[in-house]
Amino acid sequence: MENGVEKKTYVITGATSGIGLATAGLLTRREAAIIGVGRSPERCRAAEEELHSLNGEASVRYLVADLSIQAEVRRLATEIRRQVSTLDALINNAGTFTFWLELTPEGFETQWAVNYLAPFLLTHELLPLLKAAPTARVVTVSSASHYNTRLHWKDIQLRRHYNCMLAYKQTKLATVLFTAELNRRLGPDSTVRAFAADPGLVNTEIGLKRNPAIARWIWDRRRKSGISPQESAKGIEFLAVEPSIQDSHEIYWKHSHPKAPSPDALDKEAASRLWRLSAQMCGIPAESYGQVTSDG
Ligand SMILES: NC(=O)c1ccc[n+]([C@@H]2O[C@H](COP(=O)([O-])OP(=O)(O)OC[C@H]3O[C@@H](n4cnc5c(N)ncnc54)[C@H](OP(=O)(O)O)[C@@H]3O)[C@@H](O)[C@H]2O)c1
Repeated sequence: MENGVEKKTYVITGATSGIGLATAGLLTRREAAIIGVGRSPERCRAAEEELHSLNGEASVRYLVADLSIQAEVRRLATEIRRQVSTLDALINNAGTFTFWLELTPEGFETQWAVNYLAPFLLTHELLPLLKAAPTARVVTVSSASHYNTRLHWKDIQLRRHYNCMLAYKQTKLATVLFTAELNRRLGPDSTVRAFAADPGLVNTEIGLKRNPAIARWIWDRRRKSGISPQESAKGIEFLAVEPSIQDSHEIYWKHSHPKAPSPDALDKEAASRLWRLSAQMCGIPAESYGQVTSDG
């Protein structure tokens, strides 16, 4: 029986563990074509095997890219554009938490680069493919952490006074502002809709990776009250596939239900300012967002 998803193509970043892998699992079971993205070739291979074991017939392939590096994001997008001509959803799920201030080789604070700039840039690069589908979605995984925080414009990457939690919270606020501004720029008649997802508290290993013992200990205790990645993934899958919400004006969703984001996330002036700053950080003229000219 048809389920509306089979043969549709979904790009999922951070699809080697946690919520991203579980979302890929749900879509694989429904015969969707999955392009998973991960930073480690071994973990990509293992995830691909896991998904094939769920559905031997499924079209699953993984691409390796370190999303903290913009050159890698662009290379990844070029490869995706080579492989497919339309895209039904881009799920910007990859995320990281870094206790200490870590700069990427391109000089960005790592959480800012992975959790926020990578979705901004990858969406820009893949927008032509999304526009080529009859309808399409951009789902970016945010967090309840986006509440009760603001953007520190004078030091947006917190490079002068780094605070790991504040840095994480800012990236998640930025993803909601990005989602709202993307919808505004696409316009009400666009076939592409953007949604920000709050996955809830989820029992994953995000806080255990490459962090000092104290951070690992805190997350290891906290995550035990979380839901499973499989449970959380249902809400991400919903935003990627549910036809009835295509024209919804709700931008922030938790477990398949709309929820009010923080007032700061609805600040249009801040969203526009952030957009211009992000475009500058990614070397894109702000007005040509989504117009990819070279495919080298
Ligand atoms: N867990 C929660 O309670 C919670 C709550 C709110 C929001 N979130 C958000 O949910 C999303 C998924 O997180 P999760 O909890 O499922 O954690 P996770 O299991 O650690 O998954 C994160 C994914 O992102 C990938 N990733 C990290 N850095 C990357 C990079 N530089 N380049 C490419 N891929 C990279 C990871 O790859 P590896 O497998 O190689 O590590 C992994 O596949 C994140 O955006 C997170 O902020 C989580």
